[in-house]
Amino acid sequence: MGGVSASPIESYPGLGADLLKWYDLCARDLPWRRTQDPYGIWISEIMLQQTRVDVVIERWLRFMERFPRVSELARAQEDEVLAEWAGLGYYRRARAIHAAARVIMEQHNGVFPQTHNDVLDLPGIGPYTAGAITSIAFGQQEALVDGNVERVFARLFQLDEITGSAPLKREAWDLARELVPKTRPGDWNQALMELGATVCTPRNPNCGACPARELCKCAGALEAATYPRPKPPREVIKLEVECLVIRREQQVLLVRRPDAGRMGGLYELPTREVSWSSSEPPGIFPEQWPAGLESSEGEPLAQVSHTITKHRIQAAICLGTALGMPNQALWAGPDDWARLGLSGMTSKALSKSGVEIATLRADTRS
Ligand code: ADE
Repeated sequence: MGGVSASPIESYPGLGADLLKWYDLCARDLPWRRTQDPYGIWISEIMLQQTRVDVVIERWLRFMERFPRVSELARAQEDEVLAEWAGLGYYRRARAIHAAARVIMEQHNGVFPQTHNDVLDLPGIGPYTAGAITSIAFGQQEALVDGNVERVFARLFQLDEITGSAPLKREAWDLARELVPKTRPGDWNQALMELGATVCTPRNPNCGACPARELCKCAGALEAATYPRPKPPREVIKLEVECLVIRREQQVLLVRRPDAGRMGGLYELPTREVSWSSSEPPGIFPEQWPAGLESSEGEPLAQVSHTITKHRIQAAICLGTALGMPNQALWAGPDDWARLGLSGMTSKALSKSGVEIATLRADTRS
């Protein structure tokens, strides 16, 4: 286990007591911390996964007033639950909460299940939420890891794995399971999260205020801020392409991409790769125009920037002509575009060059 010697408990005597003492003194007074009701704790944990604490305070109080018990939530129509969730985002989570409430009524006689496995079986509840509910509401010795806990552990134990990576998650979960105490496991878990949220923050950790500063392997804020290790910047490939606008009255010629592969089945302006910064051509587009198509002389109608995964594309949108129809090509006007499914770059190219096409047409007429 990179960087961790012996058992963390043996190496970090006093960590638990220091952290809990700090929590008792410094924890924020949040409304869901005043209840032992697993239902309320569950709702707070789901809300906290997607929204800031200050927003959750008001929304949690409102939700609990509207649906004070599991039975009221289960009885509600899904639309009512979604309406109450409005603005919190991730409506899939609201649907899962509603579905879980019904499971609790039907399979657990309306009583919130108490074993870790039964809680984990409820819709929308993963290991983090199950750990939070069972430790906080039922005082069970169950661990949890969220982003805050992962960061606190990465610093405390100087874990060198990359942020968000599976190995870092695995190490953090191993540590969390090893460290969670028998007494006050819920407060311990909340103290770790609280420390991450208020002291051991991502950018400017306040190491002077940390109850674990004597034990932390990242001595000092400068070092701490470099943990967890950031992802290496993604390689960027610059790609220059040309796209052809070939007009027939109000229509342009579009080509359907092959079903297999990137943007499969979407329609796009005929596009060819012209130059690239990688050693090989990226191969997102062909290097030659399809047979029968060619570009006209003259300046491009527009330039469009677009990113596809690691490719930063600069597209010159040029007028072109068709001497024949290539495979998989069709004529389509603005009314057809939405229905066909255009690639993102072609949508941009059409909207950016549209005005200029119209101007050009007017110029030609005069
Ligand atoms: N983040 C999510 N749940 C939390 C909790 N119960 N305490 C502190 N931070 C949290």
